[in-house]
Amino acid sequence: MRTSFKLLIATLALAAGVSISARPLDAVTKSGKLVAATEGAFTPFNYVDKGKLTGFEVELTELVAKKMGLALEWKTVGFDALLAGLGQDRWDMVIASHGITDERAKAVTFMAPHYCSGGMIVSKDAAIRTAKNLAGKTVAVQTGTTYLENITKLGTAKEVKNFPSDADARSALAAGRVDAWVTDRFTVLETLKKNPGLKLQSGDLLFTERIAAAAAKGNTGLADAWNKALAATMADGSYAALSKKYFGEDVRCK
Ligand code: ARG
Repeated sequence: MRTSFKLLIATLALAAGVSISARPLDAVTKSGKLVAATEGAFTPFNYVDKGKLTGFEVELTELVAKKMGLALEWKTVGFDALLAGLGQDRWDMVIASHGITDERAKAVTFMAPHYCSGGMIVSKDAAIRTAKNLAGKTVAVQTGTTYLENITKLGTAKEVKNFPSDADARSALAAGRVDAWVTDRFTVLETLKKNPGLKLQSGDLLFTERIAAAAAKGNTGLADAWNKALAATMADGSYAALSKKYFGEDVRCK
């Protein structure tokens, strides 16, 4: 009864053109295709360049999927919808620079970290460099991020302005509408390098975090297979080469 009911739902969903994802590993393997979701707006990790989805995490997922013997299908959606989509069976996995937090780990199963980084302060004002300097200031962050969480926890900013994308938070700083922006350390380095005209200056690292992809809560079969393939890319030099290409250094967690 239960099984046939499930089958009925699945058939109806398929007929309606809704794909059933977040599948157990054997279903993924059988279909030959991994459905991965990302934001596509977080340089240099996942972004669109000349109409093509790319970035360190996109290329790394391509490497890992290949090792898993799977083709890859990408979905791009707003950052806020990514983890929730795992619970709604809209895709098998998410890779979008999520820091591993206890709160998130209640809702999803994190894979092994694929890089280590942290939230960094950026400002046009040389006097805004440290956590202390943020007291009484207006700070821009992307909604739903660990940057927002940590700035809120710090509790000294006059105002924390939320933006749907990290690029919007950057624009607010560039336009002088906020005093500082907090984002990933490597995003900061890339922004400074590519936009010297903005006259932005990097400040302190506010906190560090381990960044990982995620599967639906309890989908340990898929997580284990991903972890094994990720470890293989870290062992055979392909991870190191990709990391060097994007960052000029190896960003794996030490
Ligand atoms: N590392 C931060 C976090 O865990 C930011 C992630 C932002 N990712 C993105 N695709 N915009 O929340």
